[in-house]
Amino acid sequence: MTSTREEVEVGYDISNEFFRLWLDERMHYTSAVFDEKNTTLEQAQVNKSRILADFGEVTPDSLVLDIGCGWGANLEYLALDRKVKRSHGITLSRAQHDELTARKLPGVTTWCVDYKDYAPAEKYDALVSIEMIDHLVSPKQQQEGLAVPIYREYFNKLATWVKPGACFGFQAILRNRVPRTRKDLEDLKFTADVIFPGGLNPRLEELVTACGQSWEIIELKTRREDYGKTTAEWLRRFRLNEKKIKEKWGALKMSDGETVWNNYERYLSTCVRAFANHWSSDVQMKLRHIA
Ligand SMILES: C[S@@+](CC[C@H](N)C(=O)[O-])C[C@H]1O[C@@H](n2cnc3c(N)ncnc32)[C@H](O)[C@@H]1O
Repeated sequence: MTSTREEVEVGYDISNEFFRLWLDERMHYTSAVFDEKNTTLEQAQVNKSRILADFGEVTPDSLVLDIGCGWGANLEYLALDRKVKRSHGITLSRAQHDELTARKLPGVTTWCVDYKDYAPAEKYDALVSIEMIDHLVSPKQQQEGLAVPIYREYFNKLATWVKPGACFGFQAILRNRVPRTRKDLEDLKFTADVIFPGGLNPRLEELVTACGQSWEIIELKTRREDYGKTTAEWLRRFRLNEKKIKEKWGALKMSDGETVWNNYERYLSTCVRAFANHWSSDVQMKLRHIA
């Protein structure tokens, strides 16, 4: 089983207000891209969206689909910054979909649906998907050797949704080295079990193998250090809001019986260490549909 709707919602449905306290103002929940010009989290998130839209060769007249669109941060960029006249988004989280609807973004249509059940009425000019693929394979499926077939099913399905030769701006978290200490292993396992149940970050080589039947890799760039900076900034903003978070969500217990504060403090601190120590990384790819 891929992550179920219930499992996906554990990661995103505590409260939109909760995530708004420590993400950037548009609520990207994925790695930003920092450079000399883009040093604040807000700027660096726009930079990430710009790179992926450029990878997708998006123009204002492109019909674009964002697969796993979260609270709509990237769709907002497409509609407002790139002036894309029509874009679509799908998410599996109902709270995210409520937020998407409330934003009333011009030219944006969204659905709360599993990508497997989505049947687009038109072919797309461009695709974007930002760190959604890590929900598709469970640790058990990976152990059974099913990771590459599941990722291949995803890439092949997406290829049927686009016009011949369309481009795809793709981003994924990656699984790299295994931590050495019991505590580090436990922290990573806690993140997978409690914060994002049912999912597993792919290995780069699995993605490269899986996409090749239907997509040509035109460009590939890893973003490990950028994700380290992004998660450090999330942690900083989270800690700044300690009082408010404890007041509002202090009584809410998560699946392990712990509070939201304790769990998110542990999760975000683990993320910072994961990118610093090469346990995790991130990749952006420009893919072109093989017609
Ligand atoms: C880490 S969030 C990233 C959100 C957004 N792309 C961003 O950059 O902030 C992963 C997203 O993938 C969505 N998702 C996970 N599994 C999905 C599936 N099977 N079908 C559609 N969306 C899915 C989740 O609902 C969530 O919106």
